[in-house]
Parts: sequence; structure tokens; C-alpha cells
Amino acid sequence: MSKEINTLVDTLLQKMTIEEKVGQMTQVTLDLVLKGNVYEPEKPFVFDEDKLVNVLLQKHVGSILNVPTSEALTRQQWHYVVSTIQEKAMKDSRLGIPVLYGIDSIHGASYTQGATFFPHQIGLAATWNPALAKEQGAITAYETRASSIPWVFSPVQDIARNPAWSRIYETFGEDPYLSGEMGKAMVSGFEGDDISNFDKVASCLKHFVGYGMPLSGKDRTPAWIPEHYLREYFLPSFEAAMEAGAKTIMINSGEINGIPVHANKEILTTLLRDELGFEGLAVTDWEDIKYLHTRHRVAATQKEAVRMAIDAGVDMSMVPDDLSFCGHLIELVNEGAISEERLDISVRRILKLKYELGLFENPVLEEGANYDKFGSTEFLEKAKLAAAESITLLKNEDSILPISKDKKILVTGWAAESMPSLNGGWSYDWQGATSVEFAKGKTNLLQAIEDEAGKSNIVFSEGCKYDEVGNIEDAIEKAAGVDHIILCLGENSYTEFMGNVNDLDLPKAQIELAQAMIKTGKPVTLVLLEGRPRIISSIADKIGSILLGYYPGQEGASSISDIIFGKTNPSGRLPYTYPRYSNALMTYDHKHAEALELQGSEVPFYPQFEFGHGLSYTQFEYGNILLEKTTLAANEDLRFSFSIKNTGKRAGKEVAQVYIGDDYASITPPVKRLRAFRKIEIAAGEEQQLDFVIPMKRLAFVNVQNEWVLEEGTFKLMVGNLISKFELKND
Ligand code: BGC
Repeated sequence: MSKEINTLVDTLLQKMTIEEKVGQMTQVTLDLVLKGNVYEPEKPFVFDEDKLVNVLLQKHVGSILNVPTSEALTRQQWHYVVSTIQEKAMKDSRLGIPVLYGIDSIHGASYTQGATFFPHQIGLAATWNPALAKEQGAITAYETRASSIPWVFSPVQDIARNPAWSRIYETFGEDPYLSGEMGKAMVSGFEGDDISNFDKVASCLKHFVGYGMPLSGKDRTPAWIPEHYLREYFLPSFEAAMEAGAKTIMINSGEINGIPVHANKEILTTLLRDELGFEGLAVTDWEDIKYLHTRHRVAATQKEAVRMAIDAGVDMSMVPDDLSFCGHLIELVNEGAISEERLDISVRRILKLKYELGLFENPVLEEGANYDKFGSTEFLEKAKLAAAESITLLKNEDSILPISKDKKILVTGWAAESMPSLNGGWSYDWQGATSVEFAKGKTNLLQAIEDEAGKSNIVFSEGCKYDEVGNIEDAIEKAAGVDHIILCLGENSYTEFMGNVNDLDLPKAQIELAQAMIKTGKPVTLVLLEGRPRIISSIADKIGSILLGYYPGQEGASSISDIIFGKTNPSGRLPYTYPRYSNALMTYDHKHAEALELQGSEVPFYPQFEFGHGLSYTQFEYGNILLEKTTLAANEDLRFSFSIKNTGKRAGKEVAQVYIGDDYASITPPVKRLRAFRKIEIAAGEEQQLDFVIPMKRLAFVNVQNEWVLEEGTFKLMVGNLISKFELKND
């Protein structure tokens, strides 16, 4: 903390009553100060003066979040919202402390009309290009600040280890290293060097820690994660993003090993504070203190739930819709169950952030602030570029893609006309359903294909709904007169528990349409718009080409059609393992014993598509790996190089992925782990030399004593189709 801010915080803290301190630790949803009922505010929304007085002046609430239900606001409306709140909180109160407004700017300033929407994080991860993540963070920060909001609940640093989970698309995928590198870049884009700048925001790492592997695959259901695995697989992506300076963190709503994380002092204080040295603000997730009582049932009363969470290390409670938290916490302090010094620790962090954001001097926007790049063509082009680099060509038999524009094409499948399937959840509203209305002028997939190939070459037949059989006969009839079929399938928008599924297979109605299209004998290109890898094994082998779009955002449709018609050479690579069977949900870094070949099984590790997979319209050839040394000590760096040649006829981007496998270890080693990567562009015929330096300590694992160790022995270095060996030996 800078000396000056330190002094300001201390001076203010000394003046504060217990009630004012507790208020700072409270965060409510915007609806709580609007006319009407919570979650059903009057429309158009209107502030309720009595509620403003109660929340801001009587309860001294320090933070507000969210958007009125299903009502993305304009920048002007946001300005009105935040300035009304700040005026009440600052002018009419004893101490004049500004409110910290927070928002889910998830793939852009996603609650502001006219903002630039990028691909969701899973697509961003598929670019394997941290520079794009930084840019996405920077533009999102600019447009969120332009909406008068200084704090975003992003990025998600959870590691997605269960493909059924409804929040896969919000993550950077299954690998800790890829997620860490992307998250680090995104945080630096959000925050820059100084978060008081009018184009920067404070970021929030979610959801600390171990949220990404619910046993049941359903959101917020229990996880069993031994501590050594928690440290080795789930912690590093958070640590990487913390290194980039992330100012805040949000806590995992779930339970690990029977302990809800919101009540876990070992995680929230011993690990996060004492060991990792994180100094920022820790906010709960939605209603999670209450859930300690009502859902997790570790607290017999609401008041006990508050005591547990504060004792565990929570700084701010996302209450979010009633103020009982304040009363309980005040009572607990007055009774001596929680000390005032404990409150001071949290309030200090909250005030510090408010000073760092410059909210005391500029609680809303700089006078006359000019944000003329908001929603600009320049920004939209960046979003298109990110989408273009994310789209992953999973299959392209006989090079049936790209399609030449003079071909007659049938576009079929409900997703072709769906805006929610481009935007996913967290788009204009929580579940993303209002994309239909707010993104009206944007181009859907069908329109993008028509724009590119000319309307006269395209026929359309919806064929099916998400999970409802449609007029397949019409699609079959129309297919008779075309040269190529583009089949657009996938998922609607959803998030959290609303996206839970009992079956990971793509719904039957969609599979039926696909089978009918395959039967026509015409070349079929499957375009998948989906938040998680829905199983397609019953059709994948019979379909010529498959493009995975993830949720590319409302600018992404033209990026897909550019790939279909060859304007763009695809360069996305899978950030997760695409499963083939619903009972074979393995990650790429599985154990040797999981790849059941060793036990003679006929169903070994055999995913539909492997982590890191993705094709190009050109070909790349890897030269030999040259290792500087083949025997190294633990404190040394592994240095090596190899070449990649573009042997095809057009320029392309390749992602060099470096995997290392430990041959033997005291905890069963995974077959391989991603240890480095680099995305490069190579001209046709060009050969590039790549040098890598990997500190040996990156190859360490966590033993059962929960310590990082690097054991002597031999390792395999794998790049493309090449394998080299080296040895770790301490003399
Ligand atoms: C989600 C968070 C989100 C928060 C605030 C929660 O339900 O889990 O990711 O940031 O709501 O909207």
C-alpha cells in the first residue's frame, strides 16, 4: 500500500463506528434500492428514496452490484445509477465514503447496451494467445469504466475438470498452465499499472478455489479434492493471476471435502493470506454466507453463519438481498464473538481499494470524460479477431473446407439463427436470453454465411429446435438441390444451475437432424456453438468437417463464415479434452492407469478430440528437438529449440505446445503436462526456429506432505510428434 493511501485509510478508519465498518463489508444487489420487489423492480426502474436512505445512510452499505433484472442499461443510465448512489452515499453521509460498484463484465461490458462483446473465456483460451486476452481485458475495462463502474467480477481462474459443468465456458479450460497464462494477461489488461486511470478497473479472480470439479458435474455441488491436488491443479492459475496484481478475489460457493469454502479458515486465511500473501479484498459469492445455514447446514443459525464466514476470512458479504448480515455482525462484535480488530482488517482492504480506484476524488466519471472508442469499429474488429483465432477446426476430411463461394449451400439447424448461441450467458442479462432483443442488429450465423456467399446461393431450413424435432423433411428436400450442407447445432445460453444437464450428449432432436443430413450423401460441415463439449460421437465420424465456435460473441458469426469460405485460416486449439463417451470424461493429463490400454481394455483413452487439437488450412512440420543439456539439476533451466515449417500453400498460425511427462514419481505421474506454449504465424514455405527456456522447478509436483517437490529421474519432452528425453540429477 502506498504510504499516502495507508495514512488516508488509517485516518478514516479511526473515525468509523462499528456500524459503519460493518456497512463497508456489506454488498447488496441494485434492486434493493429500487422501487418494487427485489428481482421484480418496477419497469422502467426508479430509485426508491426511502430504500436509498436505509441502505446507504442507515446501514452504511459500502458496495452494490448487478443490473436490474433483464435490463442491460445504456451508458447514460449507468451514469445516472452510479451517480445517484454516490451522491447519496457521499454528500448526505457523515464520512462521505464512495460506494464500490461491481458488475459481471464477463466477455466485455456485458450489461451495457452497445458494448463490445468478445468470445467467452473458453474461446479466448482456444486462441492460445495471451496478447488477445490482455486486449480483451483492456477493452472491457475501458467500456466498463465508460459505464461508470470500476470493478469487474472477472476473470474466472477455475480449472474446468468436469466437462458436464455448466460453467466450462466461463473458464480458460482444463489446464492450469494455460489458464494461468491467459488469466495473468487478462488481469493486466483490466488493471494496467494504475487502476485509478479512467480506462482501468479492479479485477476479481473467481472462484477461489477448487470450484471447477464438482463430483456430480452439477453447479455448486460437493467436490472431493485432496489438498495436494488442490495445490497442484487448482491453485496455480490463481497464483499466476495474483502475480499480475489482481486486486480482489471471489470465493468458491461450493464445498470441498465436506467444508464449504466460505467457512474454511485454512483456505481463506492460512492459505490465501499467510501463505500466498494476497492482500486484496475477498468477497463472497451470491448469498453464500446464508447458504452456510440453509444449504450446507454447517451453521445452525444465520448469525452463526456470519460468525463462521468472518472468522474464516471473508472481507465483504455479497448479501445480496436483505440486510440481516449487518445486524448479525454488529451483534457478534458487541458480544465479543468477533473482534473490532478483525473488522478493521477487512475494512482496511475495502477502503484501500476505493482509494486506489480514485473513487474519493472521482466517484463516477471524470468531468467531461470522453469515451469515443466505446463500441467503436476499432473495438469490434478486435472482438472479431479474438473470435477468429478461437474457432477450432476439429475435422476436415478431404479438405472439404474451405467451401468455394459459387457452391449452392443448405444452412440448417436452429443455432444458425440464434443470438444466445453466439453470446452465451452473461449477455445483457444473467442467462443471456435477452440477447434476442438487445443484439437485434447483430449478424447471426445464417446472415453471416449469406453475406459472404451471396443470398442466392443459400437455402435455409431450421430443421430442429434445441431439443425439439422440427421439419426435417423440409431440410432433406432442400438438401437435394445443394452442393454442401452447413449444419449449425449446439447449446442455448445458460449459466450456473440453470445450465445443469443430466446428459452430456447433444440433444436427440439435433442428432436426428444431423443423421438425416448425413444420409443425403452431401458433404456436411458441422458448426457447433456450445458452452461445453456436448457428445457427438454418434455423428462425428460420418461428418466431413467440424468447426467448434464455443460462444464467440455477437461479432463472431462473420469470423466463422470467414473460415468456412477460406478468408481466414483457422488457428484455434482445444483448451479441453472433447469426450467421445459420457462415461469416459478424462482430461489430457490423466494418469497412466486411466489409459486402460495397460489393462488390455478395448476402451482406452480415446477422446473425440484431444486437448490442444485443432487443424489449419496449411500443414506444419516439426524439425528435431535440440536440447542444450540432457542431464540437469533442480535449480537449472531446461533449454531447447526446434523448428516448425509451414509446408502448405498459405500462411497460418501454429501453436507450439510443449508437454513434459515424468517417467516415475512417488505420486503416480500424469502421462504429460503442458509446460509451455507459443502461438506463431508462419508464411507459406517459411521455417521458424523456436527457443524455449523452462525452469526445472515448473516440473515439480505436490507430494502427500503438501510440499512442492522435484524428484530425480527421467522425463519425456513432447512437441508435435517429436519426443526427447532428459534427466534430472542432483549431484
Ligand atoms: C456467480 C458469480 C457472479 C456473482 C455476481 C454468482 O452467482 O457465481 O460468478 O460474479 O453471482 O453476479
